[in-house]
Amino acid sequence: MKVLVYSARPYDKRALEDFIGNKHQLTFTDKKLALQTASMASGYDAVALFTSDDASGPVLQKLSDVGIRFVALRSAGHDHIDLKVAAQLGIQVANVPAYSPYSVAEHAVAMLMASNRKIIRGQKLIDAQDFRLDELTGFDVHGKTVGVIGTGNIGLAFCKIMLGFGAKVLATDPVESEEAKGAGVKYVTFEQLLKTSDVISIHCPLNNATRYMFSAAQFSMMKPSATLINTSRGGLINTKDLIETLKRGKIGAVCLDVYEKEKGLFFNDLRNVMLTDADFRQLRGFPNVLITGHQGFLTREALTGIARTTLQNLDHWQSQLQSPNELTLMEMVQR
Ligand code: NAI
Repeated sequence: MKVLVYSARPYDKRALEDFIGNKHQLTFTDKKLALQTASMASGYDAVALFTSDDASGPVLQKLSDVGIRFVALRSAGHDHIDLKVAAQLGIQVANVPAYSPYSVAEHAVAMLMASNRKIIRGQKLIDAQDFRLDELTGFDVHGKTVGVIGTGNIGLAFCKIMLGFGAKVLATDPVESEEAKGAGVKYVTFEQLLKTSDVISIHCPLNNATRYMFSAAQFSMMKPSATLINTSRGGLINTKDLIETLKRGKIGAVCLDVYEKEKGLFFNDLRNVMLTDADFRQLRGFPNVLITGHQGFLTREALTGIARTTLQNLDHWQSQLQSPNELTLMEMVQR
C-alpha cells in the first residue's frame, strides 16, 4: 500500500521504519495535512495522520478527490477527524486505541510532581547559584484526595500510580471500571469530585458532551488550592475562564500538556516568531502554570506501539479486511 505519512517527525520515521518490512511503501513529509497540502496525497492509497493534522470535512473531500481510501490515525484521540464525512466519502479510518497508557499517565504524574515540588524553579535557582529554599515548598501527595476524570486506559494507569503514592483516589466516568474499584478507586459524582479533590487529572476524550467541561462554574466549585492537570485535549478546558480563575488566585496550580488552540503552535519551531495568541502568552506568564507541548505520548514504548498498530491497520486494509481498530458509527454518535 502506498502511504503518505503527514506530520512525520524523525522519531515517527524511526519507529515506523523499524516495523515496515516490505509490505508498504511509506513516504514521509513533515508537512501537516491541511487544505493546502491535501493534494500531496495524489497517487497514494492511504494517509497516516497525527493529532496536529486537520482532517476536517473539506480536507477529507480533497483527499477523496485525489483517490485516498484509507486514513490511519497515529493516535488514540480522533477529535481531529470528521468521521461522519469520512463515512459519507467511503474513507475507512482506524486509530491506535491503546499504546502504552503509562506514557501519558506517567507524564501527568511528572507534571504534578514538577509543579508541586517546584522542580523547574529549583533548577533555575541552582543555575543562578541561589541556594535558598524559600520559594520551593510543596505538599505530600500521600494522604491527599486525587480526582480522576475518566478511568479508561490512561486514567486507570494514573489512578494506580496515585494509589501507590498513598493518595485517596476518587473518579468519575459514565462507565465504571471494576479494575479501578478493585484497586481502591471510589466513584463519585463530578460535582463531589470537584469539591473535594486536592488534585484533579483529566483523562477523558474530547467530544460534544465533554467540550469545556471545565469552565467558570466548575472552577468555582474546586478548592482554591487544587492542582488541575490536563493531558487529554485542550478543548476540555475553557481557557478564558481558566485565565480569569488564575488571575483571581482561585486555583492552586495548573499543568497543561494540551492547549485549546495548540494547532499551529505545538510541534513547531517558533523560536523566532512573535506569538500572537494572547491567551497562551498569559497562561505562560503565571508562575503556577506548567506547560509542555503535547509530549505525554513521547516515550520509546509508546512510539513503538503506535508504529506497530498503524502498520497492522494498513496490513488489514491491504488484505481487504476490516481493521479491528476501525472507527465506526459508535464513535460518530459519541461526538
Ligand atoms: P479511553 O477511551 O481508554 O478512556 C477514556 C475514558 O473516558 C473512558 O472510560 C470513558 O468512559 C471516559 N469518559 C467519557 N466521557 C466522560 C465524561 N464525561 N466524564 C468522565 N469520563 C468520561 O482513552 P485513553 O486511552 O485513556 O485516553 C484518554 C485521552 O487521553 C484521549 O481521549 C486523548 O484525548 C488523550 N491522550 C493524550 C495524549 C498526549 O500525548 N497528551 C496521548 C494519548 C491520548
